[in-house]
Amino acid sequence: MSEVTNSVRFVLDGRIVEAQGRRRTTTVLDYLREDLQRTGTKEGCAEGDCGACVVLVGELDANGSAVNYAPVNSCMQLLPSLDGKSVKTVESLRRADGSLHPVQQAMVECHGSQCGFCTPGIVMSLTHLSQGNACPSRAQIGDALSGNLCRCTGYKPIIDAAQRACAAPREELKIDDAADLPLLREIRRDTAPTYSLDGEIVVQPVVRTRKGSEFVSPATLDEVAHYLQRHPGATLLAGSTEIGLQVNKQFSRPEHIVYLGNVAELRQVTETRDTWRIGAAVPLEQVMALVATAYPDFAEVLRRFGSPPIRSTATLAGNIANGSPIGDSMPCLMALQARLVLRRGEATREVALDAFYTGQKKTVLQPGEFIEAVLCPRPVAGRAFRAHKISKRFDQDISATCFAAAFELEGGVLRRVRVACNGLAPSPCRAPRIEAALEGKAPAAVRAEDIDAAIAASFTARDGLRATWAYRSLVARNLVMRFVEESLSTEEATA
Ligand SMILES: Cc1cc2nc3c(=O)[nH]c(=O)nc-3n(C[C@H](O)[C@H](O)[C@H](O)COP(=O)(O)OP(=O)(O)OC[C@H]3O[C@@H](n4cnc5c(N)ncnc54)[C@H](O)[C@@H]3O)c2cc1C
Ligand code: FES
Ligand code: FES
Repeated sequence: MSEVTNSVRFVLDGRIVEAQGRRRTTTVLDYLREDLQRTGTKEGCAEGDCGACVVLVGELDANGSAVNYAPVNSCMQLLPSLDGKSVKTVESLRRADGSLHPVQQAMVECHGSQCGFCTPGIVMSLTHLSQGNACPSRAQIGDALSGNLCRCTGYKPIIDAAQRACAAPREELKIDDAADLPLLREIRRDTAPTYSLDGEIVVQPVVRTRKGSEFVSPATLDEVAHYLQRHPGATLLAGSTEIGLQVNKQFSRPEHIVYLGNVAELRQVTETRDTWRIGAAVPLEQVMALVATAYPDFAEVLRRFGSPPIRSTATLAGNIANGSPIGDSMPCLMALQARLVLRRGEATREVALDAFYTGQKKTVLQPGEFIEAVLCPRPVAGRAFRAHKISKRFDQDISATCFAAAFELEGGVLRRVRVACNGLAPSPCRAPRIEAALEGKAPAAVRAEDIDAAIAASFTARDGLRATWAYRSLVARNLVMRFVEESLSTEEATA
């Protein structure tokens, strides 16, 4: 390895850690275990599935007066992205007098741990739940634990422990971070770019090797655009739930990495009367809350997207840019007629999401161009939106297919129908033939055989690892029929 310069600074339990000489792709998990001997945090899968590695990452709130925590899979996060933040591991929960945190105590009392390998991750997920929810329902506990696999307990004792712990007094549950706050203010990252004497933006690296490979963490959009113009082959890093996988499993070592998580403009959601403008670094957890009332089906698809540690970092833009054929947000966004704001240098352009993909994992993005924001239309009176994801396992699983539809019922017939799906083509896409089979029909007149014919004419029959074509196409037809039939009952109910 060529020598590494610069250092990553983060706060750990009342002290500033300066991580020096580590690669730009070192994971948070490896650093915690190997350099800081925080071995409570475990490595199970190293791909975001098991949750043995869950820690809490803290960031100062907008006023700089409190720390907001997110549960993250430390196996997927790159160490330089921690610069300016804080970390809490299972060891952080131990009180000064040696007593256990209420979540740990409840796990002991309810026999929530057997072999113990999953326990630190489970404790961290439940500690996060306990910060904001004094009385979680069983479903909320299940959701909080959807990214934590336990092979031993059968979960009942863990769920009992969660209920018992959350009933403890708030002050006992609260994460102790009084000593972290001033240190987080001290290491807060700059919010403005640095300029050279000629007025050129200089993007300072967090980590740079002697060979010139680097990890940069800009604070502004201008810096991102400028950097990408100079390094069009640079890898953008948002939530790291895909990139982390490439680093761990394919040993990918991108030369230049541009982290978007510190760009304030990209972390904002703004709204007009018609549209939400969702910045490219907004995590899915926030998007889920944003759309919950307007599009409950979209929120439910997102709730089944990974798990809380995945959703707390993974972004909508990252899902779209990654362009997986089974990406879950895209069918919903295409049915809703979402558009993307793309930026290259000073120039921006808008592209409809359904015109973004040109093939499997291929997009219209030009070298040096990136997604700045996703424009998602807000609900319109009289326009229905439906979506559903089918996967083998209900939680934390990959789609066999996910279908979404938007339509209006005008004079008892379906109008302005938009249908989109994943899992049936090289990229998520609209299904114009299915739309045509529905357009202008009364819901009761839609026939399953017409939808089957439209599906057969739209896609190439192909068996995949996760589902056969026969299964996928049958499920696809049933989803479309279900959306239509449910629109009928809604119409009857409101007639
Ligand atoms: C355990 C697990 C469960 C998952 N479950 C699901 C699921 O249920 N459904 C699903 O669809 N996916 C799922 N995924 C896949 C992944 O979480 C999503 O694709 C996620 O939205 C990626 O976003 P990210 O911010 O983490 O992207 P990153 O990993 O940071 O980046 C992904 C790709 O997008 C590029 N990129 C990021 N931001 C931009 C931008 N603004 N402009 C241009 N390019 C950009 C990156 O360079 C990279 O190529 C899962 C992944 C894991 C590990
Ligand atoms: S080690 Fe399994 S999720 Fe990180
Ligand atoms: S206690 Fe053994 S895996 Fe959970």
